[in-house]
Amino acid sequence: MQVLVASNRGPVSFSLSEEGALSMRRGGGGLVSGLASVAAGTDLVWVCAALSEGDRLAARQDPYGRLDRAGHETGAVRMLDIPEKTFHRAYNSIANSTLWFVHHLLYDTPNEPHFDSTFRRDWQSYEAYNSAFADALAQDAERGAKVVVQDYHLALVPRMLRERRPDLRVAHFSHTPWAPPEYFRLLPDDIAVEVLEGILGSDHAGFLCDRWAEAFLDCCESVLDAKVDRFARTVRHRGRTTRIGVHSLGVDGADLRERAARDDVAERRAALLEQIGDRQLILRIDRTELSKNIVRGLAAYWELLLHHREWHGRVVHVAFAYPSRTDLPRYRDYTAAVERLASEINDEFGTEDWTPLILQVKDDYARSLAAFRLADVLVVNPIRDGMNLVAKEGPILSEKGCALVLSREAGAAGELADDALMVNPYDVSQTAAKLNQALLMSSEERRRRTAALADAATALPPGAWFAEQLAALD
Ligand code: G6P
Repeated sequence: MQVLVASNRGPVSFSLSEEGALSMRRGGGGLVSGLASVAAGTDLVWVCAALSEGDRLAARQDPYGRLDRAGHETGAVRMLDIPEKTFHRAYNSIANSTLWFVHHLLYDTPNEPHFDSTFRRDWQSYEAYNSAFADALAQDAERGAKVVVQDYHLALVPRMLRERRPDLRVAHFSHTPWAPPEYFRLLPDDIAVEVLEGILGSDHAGFLCDRWAEAFLDCCESVLDAKVDRFARTVRHRGRTTRIGVHSLGVDGADLRERAARDDVAERRAALLEQIGDRQLILRIDRTELSKNIVRGLAAYWELLLHHREWHGRVVHVAFAYPSRTDLPRYRDYTAAVERLASEINDEFGTEDWTPLILQVKDDYARSLAAFRLADVLVVNPIRDGMNLVAKEGPILSEKGCALVLSREAGAAGELADDALMVNPYDVSQTAAKLNQALLMSSEERRRRTAALADAATALPPGAWFAEQLAALD
């Protein structure tokens, strides 16, 4: 059975040296490692966008690069060389500044959104970019193949592909939350319809938790007046039925532990331990992303230090805030705000022999794994998040037990709420109080809760998660 995957970001990326040589890196993320196990025995084709100059060159030289260049045994990666301007408008303006904002409730509504003719021009690029994916998939798919389309970048692909190839079995999966109807309806009416009908072009539409699936059903009712069966989880619209599924992406515990036991992680663990000493470590790891709520998280740490002087000198907050979507000015401003607050905290509370906050902005995966191993408290406080795998990875790698402070607005809350300390992400004072509670938690209680969290986190590893989506197409 041939399987095709489509996603904006692919499993590999290429960079170009000054001498013009291409070097390849394996793309990060659970999807890639999950697919390695599913890919065995299938004829997998992964269609993705060329994201860099290196990718574009590689796409031109070898349009069907083999996945085994990334250490896999089978399959091919096809990188689409989409014209730069089209890509920029589709990815930055529509996907990341419009659809992402809608699903994460990020607009500052007195001033935005502002849907004018520039937006309409960008929307046409989004259509063209989705159309390029649909063309490539239609061209590469064998008769009756299964196609799994990933995320909000490609919301129009299922319908476009069905028009081109009605014989294919198509699934769409959303890695983001889904907006409630009153917020989704901020989109221009015709575009709200186009997005929903785009996804309903699939046979199966998957979400990370019940809450996002229900919100999608609410939008189908409210915007399309579609016939929704809540019990059977189906949507009937324009003579077709789409099934809605919930697949709660988890972590492959054995894989992650094996990676975290390597030498590069051990080196960084030793270095970190030297910095922290016998103090308690409060950890956060995020992309520097507006929805991750880093500024309020740091403000909560400020409040903790302000009201609980007993922790001075006895705790260190390590915050890894890795660069993301830096083409967007709002993301650059947000990074600056995080950096400003971090240095204010150190100016206000730091002493000669105690640095209360260590902020690192350069991406280092091995260092993240080392920090997970050592953390006493892990803070995950997004405004809204499709799932949040940091909340799942931390408990798996924790060496001595780690208290999790978790936003109720993360998809992961559905599975982890019983053993985490839950917070309203907007309530800075409550978050500070939970940090204090986490620091005071006994090591026995931490260990017990961490074991339960790790069990929940590994319930549906990426391989099984992907297999569920394929099975839903049978
Ligand atoms: C989220 C999205 C993914 C995306 C990732 C990183 O997790 O659901 O589709 O790949 O963010 O964002 P980026 O824009 O760097 O691909």
